[in-house]
Amino acid sequence: MITGGNSGIGFATARKLAANGFHVVLASRNQQTSAQAIEQIHAGNPNASIESIPLDLASLAAVRQCAAAFLAKEYPLYVLINNAGGSVAGERASFTADGFEMTFGTNHLGHFLLTNLLLDNLKQSAPARVITVSSQKHIPGYGGRGAPDFDYDNLKGEKYYDSQVFYRNSKLANIWFAYELQRRLAGTGVTSNAVCPGFVPEAIGDRRTSTIDRLMYKQILPRMPFARSLEQASSSYMVAATDPRFDRVGGRFIVDGKEKRSSDESYDEEKARRLWQMSLEWCGLEMNGLS
Ligand SMILES: NC(=O)c1ccc[n+]([C@@H]2O[C@H](COP(=O)([O-])OP(=O)(O)OC[C@H]3O[C@@H](n4cnc5c(N)ncnc54)[C@H](OP(=O)(O)O)[C@@H]3O)[C@@H](O)[C@H]2O)c1
Repeated sequence: MITGGNSGIGFATARKLAANGFHVVLASRNQQTSAQAIEQIHAGNPNASIESIPLDLASLAAVRQCAAAFLAKEYPLYVLINNAGGSVAGERASFTADGFEMTFGTNHLGHFLLTNLLLDNLKQSAPARVITVSSQKHIPGYGGRGAPDFDYDNLKGEKYYDSQVFYRNSKLANIWFAYELQRRLAGTGVTSNAVCPGFVPEAIGDRRTSTIDRLMYKQILPRMPFARSLEQASSSYMVAATDPRFDRVGGRFIVDGKEKRSSDESYDEEKARRLWQMSLEWCGLEMNGLS
């Protein structure tokens, strides 16, 4: 299963997974673009085995429905790629159906709930892998950007809101989640790693509407040495998903198909545990024996 497999890096990865013989489930909020994505994959690979199920990560009820729909199919789950999301632009915070800030709620909390609801299946299917897409932008100073500012008293923008800071926070949360999940999965045959696809202007350009922006993201920036193509970014996901080098290896940050050190703060186990505990409570999972 890949979340957000209907576009961008998720789509490029879904195509590769299908080419590698996986039955691929696109978990996406837009069933129309998912149908187009499936058509496009079938056009190049008529034998591709692929289907779509609805998922809106910005609603915990919808995440529960998605997990229930998936589990009802009684498929084994060998690879779960938590890819969907991004940064919600704007000067003011927007919120999920459950009142969480949109970027944090979508990128972290929706995936936290989805993964936990699928954990039993993953364990029964072991060896299995969970891959959570983060970003090097969570590293202070990366690309000349600022640092995350993960403040439990400002998770909804109560003190201030800056969309880029909230994006970095969500990507730090993605790594805390991936590492903490690995600690909790020890001995189960399921591994959890985080990946960063690198800077992929092609994917960003698809979302831009102005001609100048599209020219910049689709034509100019892809030629820069620091840019990664959809092909390169999806290859990095595939390393995390299928490469024998990562059999039984978890708790790593994979960039360009190789292990890389994530930020110092991302290795803070106490902070990761605190986020896990809070996320259990926010998702109403603390009674399910998942703590
Ligand atoms: N592109 C980069 O330079 C870059 C760099 C570092 C990390 N990343 C990360 O890579 C991942 C993929 O990004 P991308 O560049 O491929 O962007 P993208 O093409 O915009 O893909 C994002 C996907 O997430 C889906 N999505 C967004 N909100 C959702 C929600 N509430 N519920 C379900 N699905 C939702 C989108 O669905 P819709 O089609 O319905 O909108 C889309 O399928 C993201 O996690 C992003 O943060 C990207």
